[in-house]
Amino acid sequence: MNNNNHKVLFACSEISPLIKTGGLADVCASLPIALRKSDTDLKVALPGYKSVLEQFENTRFICMLDLPLGAVAVCCAQFENTDLLLICHPVFSNRAGNPYMSDDDRGWPDNPMRFALFSQAVTELAINPAYLDWAPDLVHCHDWQTGLVPALLALHNPRPATVFTIHNIAYQGNIMHNHYVELGLPAAIFHANGLEFWGQASYIKGGIAYADRVNTVSPRYAAEIQTDAFGNGLDGLLRSRRERVSGILNGIDTDEWDPATDTHLPANYSADDLSGKNKNKAALQKQMGLPQQPETPLFGVISRLAEQKGIDVIVDAVEQAETLEFQLIVLGSGETDLQNRLYNLQQKHPQHVAIKIGFDETLSRLIEAGSDVFIMPSRYEPCGLNQLYSLRYGTLPLVTDVGGLADTVINYDNNPDEANGFLIKEASPDSLTEGINRALQLYTDKPVWQQLQHNGMAAHFSWDISAGLYLQLYTSAIGDAAVANEQIRHAKLTG
Ligand code: ADP
Ligand code: GLC
Repeated sequence: MNNNNHKVLFACSEISPLIKTGGLADVCASLPIALRKSDTDLKVALPGYKSVLEQFENTRFICMLDLPLGAVAVCCAQFENTDLLLICHPVFSNRAGNPYMSDDDRGWPDNPMRFALFSQAVTELAINPAYLDWAPDLVHCHDWQTGLVPALLALHNPRPATVFTIHNIAYQGNIMHNHYVELGLPAAIFHANGLEFWGQASYIKGGIAYADRVNTVSPRYAAEIQTDAFGNGLDGLLRSRRERVSGILNGIDTDEWDPATDTHLPANYSADDLSGKNKNKAALQKQMGLPQQPETPLFGVISRLAEQKGIDVIVDAVEQAETLEFQLIVLGSGETDLQNRLYNLQQKHPQHVAIKIGFDETLSRLIEAGSDVFIMPSRYEPCGLNQLYSLRYGTLPLVTDVGGLADTVINYDNNPDEANGFLIKEASPDSLTEGINRALQLYTDKPVWQQLQHNGMAAHFSWDISAGLYLQLYTSAIGDAAVANEQIRHAKLTG
């Protein structure tokens, strides 16, 4: 990894284990750790959510920021040996639970204000070195919650460089134009080449339009979002900036996710001795109330219950099966109709299907370790982490041929030396059924199955390579920003 000593302000809305709704939190926890190994001088900004503040005994008050949307206090906590800058305001600190949604699964109505406020705070800290006694060369933003930052920074000269990472282009942070005006957000960035999106204001579009460099979390998804089928209306803009758009595959924290040391598991194991995996399977079957049958193939799912993930496809495929020759365990939280469909399936097949609704880190580890196959029939998947955790835990992924899934899973097709799982053509019940049948057939061929497990466990998905690619991206963005700053300075001078 090259040593560039960049000063980076990393802005995100989730960090595991402090606050997590999905893979964004895992990436925003583990990428900074990997970057720091290359001596990147990094600070991380996160909203001061109630549950996050409760996890720190000591935070150090840094400053007050008097922002257009209100005054916030910036407090610093130490997290993984990094300065964590908590942006404190009652809209974050007075609400428990999920960072974006109330208990009835609806987005907080003031989310546009909350994340505009957060973005204003990040912008102010980035522009004015007096606050932190530190001036970042670059601000690295993630998803729509921070999409306004590159747009707001573009109103300043000189400004630090910006990188915007798209973790999921379907979540856009779009608001009505009159709401945007009511929030007092700048008119200067509301136009066709800026935030304006079919008459609305789009926070994610701000990140894509204004950042010096835009990337997403796998090469395949970087290509897909430049097409009509996957671009969610932003493919044209992405194509117009294609020289600035790239894909960098997510890594995983291989210390945190290691079956040999995972303290959540009843039994640890490694590629050299997989016997502990069977003990986890038995424990998982017991905990979920399924018959403890070591020879019955066990399929696991851990997922947000959202259209993206193809949970309906799983239910359809199981419903249309004549007999169930496998067990299925699903852990998930999200859409109510999917929860109901899953509960119905469990009722119909109590000996074969077990469902747990909720967010449960410990159970998720046991599912990774105890399952034989991990199913992820996503309609689209920017990267996906669960298939990577599955590979590491010797659980063969059965996934659709999209996004990061296609970049990481090598399909078994009589190629035992390379394959590590199963790809299916599309998120449809027929495709999934076909994939399940292929997996069931191979399960009877133990030596080949074990070979695939070993291939997956030996694969390298640590952050080492990807963090190096981010450093290169930072260097490019810093170069781009220097040019842009100079052009604007020159234009001002020459009037
Ligand atoms: P996404 O971010 O789209 O939800 P990823 O595969 O990138 O998908 O990451 C999902 C992360 O969230 C994984 O770490 C997964 O284990 C975790 N996760 C998702 N749902 C649950 C749940 N119900 N309980 C525990 N962990 C979950
Ligand atoms: C998003 C994507 C997922 C990705 C994660 C982390 O939530 O849906 O595919 O792995 O972000 O980048």
